[in-house]
This record gives sequence, C-alpha cells and structure tokens, in this order.
Amino acid sequence: WLAGDLMVQRELANTLSLIRDQGRAGFYEGSVADAIVAEMNRAGGLMTKDDLKNYQAIWRKPVTGMYKGYKVITMPPPSSGGIALIQLLKSVEAFPLQRWGHNADSTVQLIVEAERRVYADRAAHLGDPDFYAVPTKQLMEDGYIKNRMSSFSWEKATLSADLQAGVVAAKESEETTHFSIVDREGNAVSLTTTLNGSYGAAVVVKGGGFLLNNEMDDFSVKPGAPNMYGLVGGEANAIAPHKRMLSSMTPTILEKDGDLFMVVGTPGGSTIITSVFQTILNVIDFNQSMQAAVNAKKFHHQWLPDEVMYEEAALDSLTKKKLEDKGYQLKKRGQIGRVDAILKTKWGYYQGGADPRGDDKTIGW
Ligand code: DON
Repeated sequence: WLAGDLMVQRELANTLSLIRDQGRAGFYEGSVADAIVAEMNRAGGLMTKDDLKNYQAIWRKPVTGMYKGYKVITMPPPSSGGIALIQLLKSVEAFPLQRWGHNADSTVQLIVEAERRVYADRAAHLGDPDFYAVPTKQLMEDGYIKNRMSSFSWEKATLSADLQAGVVAAKESEETTHFSIVDREGNAVSLTTTLNGSYGAAVVVKGGGFLLNNEMDDFSVKPGAPNMYGLVGGEANAIAPHKRMLSSMTPTILEKDGDLFMVVGTPGGSTIITSVFQTILNVIDFNQSMQAAVNAKKFHHQWLPDEVMYEEAALDSLTKKKLEDKGYQLKKRGQIGRVDAILKTKWGYYQGGADPRGDDKTIGW
C-alpha cells in the first residue's frame, strides 16, 4: 500500500449494509452469522448460530456520583469503568491536587495509591450483574472510600501484596421476603416470611444449613423500650413461655364481590403495615395502576417516635410546610416498604407491581 491508495472494504461494506437494512438480524442472523460460525469452525471455536441469535443487548442504568459539585454519569457493570472512576474521583476529592501541581510527587503518589485500592476492589467485587450481586452502591459510598484510603501512608508505598479488596457491608439489609402469586386457575397466595434482622441471629445450624432467626426482638422486652424497628409495647406483647411475638407482617388478599382483586404484601419491619395500606389506597382511592401504586413514595407514622417519616419526594414543599405549621415533626428516611403485588383488572387480566426499591420482578405466563 502506498500513501494515496484507495482501500475499499467490500465485505465490511456488505456487513454494514445488512445491519442498516435488517437491524440486529443483519449481524446476528443470516449470512453474517453463517460467516462468523464458519470462521469459528475453521479455528476450532465453539460459537454456534444459536449463541449469536440469542445474544441480547441490554439497556442499563448508568452509575452516577458527585465530584466537587459535578454529577458524573457513567457506565455501569458489566463494565468496571464507571464504579472505578467514581471511586477514584472520590478517593482524591479531599486532597489539594491543584496546590501540589499536575504530576507533582504528592499528586502522583495519591493517584497511584487510590488506583491500587480501586483496582483491588475491581478484582474482587466486580463482574456481570446478571450473575453476581455487584455491591455497586456500597463501593461508591463516601464512608467506604474514606476507609479504603485510610491505610495509605505518605512515608512509604503500600505493597499490593499487603492490600486486599475492601470489605463491603453485607448487601442484605433486613431479612424478610414477600411473594404475591396467582396461578392459572386464579388461586392466590400472599406470603411473607421473616428471619427478622439481616441473617437473623447470624447462626447457621450445623448440619442443617439454615439460619436461626432473631425473632425474639419482635417481643417487647420491657414497657417503653423500642425494638430494632423503634416499636414499643407493653404487657400484651411481653415475653412469656410458649407465647408468640407480635409481627407486623401483612400478607393480604383483597376480593371484590367474591372475586380476586389484589394480592399484596411487603417486608419492612414496622413500615410493612403502612406500605400495604398506602398501596391499597393508591389503587382503590387514587386509581393508580398496580405498578404505580407500588412505586409511589410512601410516608409512615408508628405512634412512637412521634414523627412522620417520609421518603424523598413523597411530600412536596408546600405540603411539608403546612404539616410543620400544624406541629408535625417530619423526618426524611430511606425506602419505605418493598411491595410486591398483583391486581386483577376489571377486564380479567393481571397487573403486576414489583417494587423498584429492590430487585423485585413481575413474571407471568
Ligand atoms: O414480623 C415482623 O414484623 C418482623 N420480623 C419483620 C421484619 C422485616 O420486615 C425486616 N425486613 N425488612
């Protein structure tokens, strides 16, 4: 080839034309797929036409983080890039890079030590999220990053041999699970099951392979003493031999004129009752679809503490002001409930509501 020669890539042009005309099938099926499989066979490869046909591109939500007031929106797993970038930016955010200067020794040292730690995390914690529960949120938390950087010394390089990936907080928060199910005959099951806290009592029965719960916390240990959900109680729920503790679980089935209407329930400790209640109101009184009713932001009051807990964006500023003027104590908190529900519509088909607060799913046949 000489400078100025014209290179014509006819085969590539043909492939691009097929993609233009047929979309994904132009590549993953038909003559291009045949050509890929033939190439595989020539080289002893394993890929089949079915492998190609079944390949799907997946639309994923970007990961986001803040750096010095800038919102960084970037690639989520299965790339490690986005999480690692946000971890790196946060790792150096507190240091005066500008004062030290571009590629000055302190700047380089800091960046290297941040990268060492972030890439150690990459090796242990990141992979395809369809197969591995990547602790995305935990890895980007300010406290986690600060803790990772705390082992770094200005005096001496950290040895990679001495550095492990960070320990991420247990992904499981509290341990209750709810299923709402309707079968093809219209039989409904609403089932909530609980270990109470995360991993229950954190004791596995040797030889049994299951965890013991820590349900004793659902008893009131003494009048006025709150349990792990802040609930208080008295004699009615005092501990006694053979007595069962008071639960908040609310697996519920609603019928209308004798016919199935809704199957609903949720985990969430003391907020279970509120979440089921407001989900039902959202459908019956506010005409929301099942999914919208589940998604809707919730608020919660449980007598004590005397405060209205609310999810971000559950209450607008005017509503908040009106309530505060009347003496309500408002307190923003994390998610309320994780409702999974099924609604039988008046046309006879089912609507699912799977809570986006978790990794819940609606599945139907
Ligand atoms: O039965 C109860 O009310 C509690 N053991 C439920 C705990 C719970 O929902 C924790 N999960 N989020």
